[in-house]
Amino acid sequence: MVFFSGLALCAAFASATALQIPLLSSSHHAPLGHPNGTKSMVNSTELQDLVSGDRLMARAKKMYEIAKLGEEEYNHPTRVIGSAGHLGTLSYIYETILQLGDYYTVSNQSFPAVSGNVFESRLVIGDGVPKSTRTMGLTPPTKDNEPVHGDVVLVANEGCQGSDYPDSVAGNIAFIKRGVCPFGTKSEHAGRMGAVAAVVYNYEKDPVSGTLGTPSPDHVATFGLSGEEAGPVLKKLEKGKRVDAIAYMDAEVNQILTVNIIAQTSDGDADNCVMLGAHSDSVTEGPGINDDGSGTMSLLEVATQLTKFNVSNCVRFAWWAGEEEGLLGSDYYVASLSDEENQKIRLFMDYDMMASPNFAYQIYNATNALNPNGSEQLRDLYIKWYEDQGLNYAFIPFDGRSDYDGFIRNGIPGGGIATGAEGIKTQKEFEMFGGRAGEQYDPCYHMLCDDVGNVDLTAWVVNTKLIAHSVATYAQSFKGFPKRDLKVAPESNAYTNTAKYHGPKLFM
Ligand SMILES: *[C@@H]1O[C@H](CO)[C@@H](O)[C@H](O)[C@H]1NC(C)=O
Ligand SMILES: *[C@@H]1O[C@H](CO)[C@@H](O)[C@H](O)[C@H]1NC(C)=O
Ligand SMILES: *[C@@H]1O[C@H](CO)[C@@H](O)[C@H](O)[C@H]1NC(C)=O
Ligand SMILES: *[C@@H]1O[C@H](CO)[C@@H](O)[C@H](O)[C@H]1NC(C)=O
Ligand SMILES: *[C@@H]1O[C@H](CO)[C@@H](O)[C@H](O)[C@H]1NC(C)=O
Ligand SMILES: *[C@@H]1O[C@H](CO)[C@@H](O)[C@H](O)[C@H]1NC(C)=O
Ligand SMILES: [Zn+2]
Repeated sequence: MVFFSGLALCAAFASATALQIPLLSSSHHAPLGHPNGTKSMVNSTELQDLVSGDRLMARAKKMYEIAKLGEEEYNHPTRVIGSAGHLGTLSYIYETILQLGDYYTVSNQSFPAVSGNVFESRLVIGDGVPKSTRTMGLTPPTKDNEPVHGDVVLVANEGCQGSDYPDSVAGNIAFIKRGVCPFGTKSEHAGRMGAVAAVVYNYEKDPVSGTLGTPSPDHVATFGLSGEEAGPVLKKLEKGKRVDAIAYMDAEVNQILTVNIIAQTSDGDADNCVMLGAHSDSVTEGPGINDDGSGTMSLLEVATQLTKFNVSNCVRFAWWAGEEEGLLGSDYYVASLSDEENQKIRLFMDYDMMASPNFAYQIYNATNALNPNGSEQLRDLYIKWYEDQGLNYAFIPFDGRSDYDGFIRNGIPGGGIATGAEGIKTQKEFEMFGGRAGEQYDPCYHMLCDDVGNVDLTAWVVNTKLIAHSVATYAQSFKGFPKRDLKVAPESNAYTNTAKYHGPKLFM
C-alpha cells in the first residue's frame, strides 16, 4: 500500500481561505469552524444540511464527461476497469481528495484484476436463435474468434463431475443444467472433455446470466439459456434426436492492474474507524452514472463537507475497483489486512446505487444472527433515520451482491442501503415510494442509458444525507455499538454457505 502524505502547506492555505469563501452551492449556512482554526465536533444535522442536489448533479455531469473518455476504445461511454473512463474516474477521485489538503491521508492500492469483453456473439440451436441467450462474464472466445459447429450433447446431472460428460461432447457443444456447482466449474469440465462451447440452461423458466469467475485455461465459450427455451431442445435430446448448433463468441479476457483509492481522516482515533465504500468502476456496456457513479459521488461530497468538522473516530473512505468483475477490489483489500488492521475497522457501510430512477429506499437486511455483531445496529440506524424523516423503507437480502461481502466474511460488521437494480417494483412498493409498479427500479441497469438522465435527484439527496448521518454518527462516537469480536473470521457463518452471489452476477 502506498501512502501519500498530503501537501501540508497547501492544506493550511486551503483551510484558512475556506473560512472566507462561501460554499460553492447556494448554501445559506454560517461558516463552520472557529476563527482560531479549531473546528466543532461533527454534528449529523449540520453535515446533512450541507448535502446539495446542485453539487451532486454537477458531479454527475462531470462523471459523464469522464465516461466519454472510454468512447475511443469502446465506441460508447464507459468506466469499466482498464478503460480511459475508469482511469479518468480514478484521477477525479484522487484529485478531489488531494484538494482537501491534509484533512485526509490518501493512498492507492494497486491489484491485479481480470477484465472480460464480449464484442459479438451468437448461438443458433437447430434452426432457431434463442432470444434468452446470454454470454457468461469472463467467457473465453470460440476457437480463433470464429463460429464453431457441432451437435448439442446433453450432460448428465448438473455437470459438476467429469463423469457426467459423455465422450461425445468432444468437438461438440455441451448442454448443461444450472445448479449445484459454479458456472465456471461446468465450463472447465466441458473444456477438459474437448467441447468447443458450452450452454448452461436454467432450471427455472427465466434466462440465466452469470459469470465464470476466475479464468481457467480449461474454460470454453459459455452461454446461458432460459429454462423455457431449453425445454424443447431437452425434449428432442431425451428422445435421442440429433440437434445441431452454431456457437460464436468474439471475446477476450485480459489481466490488468487497477486501483482502489482509500482516504482516511488524519484526525480521529485510528484504532476505531468507521469505513464506507462505493465502487469506482462501471460495466463495459455504459457510463454507470447510477451504478455506481451515484455512490462514488455521494462519498466524494460527504468527504468534502466533513472537512468542516472535527472527528473523534477515524473515518475511512474507499473507492473500490473491479466490483463489476466480482468484488475484486474490496476482496483484495480485506484479504490484505493484517489481523491487527482488521480489528481497527469497527464497521463497513456499502453505498452502491443511490439514485435509481424508479427507486425504493432499500436497506440490507443485515442481522446479527447471520452476520458479525453490529451489522444489525447499523441496519437499525438506517431504519430509524428513514422513520424520522417520515419515509418508507424496504428490506432487501444481504446476499453478497456488493462490496460488503469480503468484510462480513472476515468478521467485520457491515450493511448499507440501495435504491434497486434490475428487480421489479411491486404494487405495494409503488404505494410506498411512488414511481411505476411492474417496472425495474433501474431500467438502465448495466446499460448504455445509465447516464445523467438516469438518476433520481430526490432519492440521491435523501440517501446522501443518510450517508452523512451514518458517517457523522460513528465519527462522533461508537457508544452502544458492539466492540469488535476478537475472532477475525466467524467460524460458522450461515450466510456464506448459501450465497449464490459474489458480486452483481450469479456464479452458480
Ligand atoms: C477557539 O474558539 C472557540 C470559540 O470560538 C473557543 O471555544 C475555543 O476555546 C478556542 N480554542 C482555542 C485553542 O483557542
Ligand atoms: C478536535 O477536537 C479535539 C477534542 O475535542 C481538540 O483537541 C482538537 O483541537 C480539535 N481539532 C480541531 C482541528 O478543531
Ligand atoms: C447539532 O446541530 C443542530 C443544529 O445546529 C443542533 O440543534 C443540535 O443540538 C446539535 N447536536 C449536537 C449533539 O450537538
Ligand atoms: C494514485 O492514483 C491516482 C489515480 O490513478 C493517480 O492520479 C495518482 O498519481 C496515484 N498516486 C500515487 C502516489 O501513486
Ligand atoms: C431479515 O433477516 C432475518 C434473518 O436474519 C429474517 O428472520 C427476517 O425474516 C428477514 N426480514 C425480511 C423482511 O426479509
Ligand atoms: C454483541 O454485542 C453486544 C453489545 O456489545 C453484546 O451485548 C452481545 O453479547 C454481543 N453478541 C455476541 C453474539 O457476541
Ligand atoms: Zn454496483
